[in-house]
Amino acid sequence: MQKTAIVTGGSRGIGRGICLGLAAQSWAVVVNYRGNADAAQEAAALVEQAGGQALIVQADIGLTGDRERLVQATLDRFGRIDLLVNNAGMAPRLRADLLETSEESYDEVMAVNLKGPFFLTQRVAQAMIAQSRGIAPSPTVGEGWGGGTRPAIINIGSISAYTASVNRGEYCISKAGMGMMTALFADRLASHAINVYEVRPGIIETDMTSGVKAKYDALIGDGLTPIRRWGQPADIAAAVVALAEGSFPFSTGEIFNVDGGFHLRRL
Ligand SMILES: NC(=O)c1ccc[n+]([C@@H]2O[C@H](COP(=O)([O-])OP(=O)(O)OC[C@H]3O[C@@H](n4cnc5c(N)ncnc54)[C@H](OP(=O)(O)O)[C@@H]3O)[C@@H](O)[C@H]2O)c1
Repeated sequence: MQKTAIVTGGSRGIGRGICLGLAAQSWAVVVNYRGNADAAQEAAALVEQAGGQALIVQADIGLTGDRERLVQATLDRFGRIDLLVNNAGMAPRLRADLLETSEESYDEVMAVNLKGPFFLTQRVAQAMIAQSRGIAPSPTVGEGWGGGTRPAIINIGSISAYTASVNRGEYCISKAGMGMMTALFADRLASHAINVYEVRPGIIETDMTSGVKAKYDALIGDGLTPIRRWGQPADIAAAVVALAEGSFPFSTGEIFNVDGGFHLRRL
């Protein structure tokens, strides 16, 4: 049996790091992307070098038909889905003050960051339930996931779920919504032996943050985070792999901060 993961937005940044982390544990990985096919090819080649199998699927997570095609392509190739990582996300195309936020930007960010992951999770959960009939509801520690047969869903949230940034409010709202989405699916899917987690990155060095690098260099240097460095995609991947491999069988709905300690209240 080949344990299989869908990683949305797996072609670049954090998603690529997650694909490589899973590949190193011999997962088959579906590398999803929206527009940059070259980056997806590169990520897939790296997955195979790292010991995993890769399937590239172009699909816009914000579109109903594309989500269905992503799930179907995965089932056609691998016959199962053991892990969904809802990683694809976007910052607003324009950072606009809250009083100037456009409806177009609000709708686009919410479709990609919240509505898409919600309905993809719903669809994938149905597939997982169908394939997991007969699995005991909760193993004890040490039993793990029984060789990757126990499915899980991991949402990539953000410190923006609770940190107000008035020049990208729609992004913050989408990530706050994802926090509740994690709780809802964790509750609903526990009886189907599917654990749901959220990994909450802090400031991570990717294309998404490249435009604000100087700003964050200064903030981190001044001690914004107790651990004074940028996070790397591999930091997020380490958490995702630990969760995916079933290290925490009696935990669901848990939020795992990978943020250099950003979330700590300090005095
Ligand atoms: N970087 C950070 O500091 C940070 C912090 C907290 C949370 N996060 C979250 O972590 C996740 C990954 O961020 P990142 O920094 O790695 O971003 P990134 O470098 O901009 O990469 C985004 C990835 O998502 C894909 N993507 C974007 N929109 C998509 C859509 N509609 N459908 C399918 N794929 C789509 C992109 O594919 P294409 O290349 O084809 O466009 C790319 O693979 C996001 O959810 C983000 O909100 C990031």
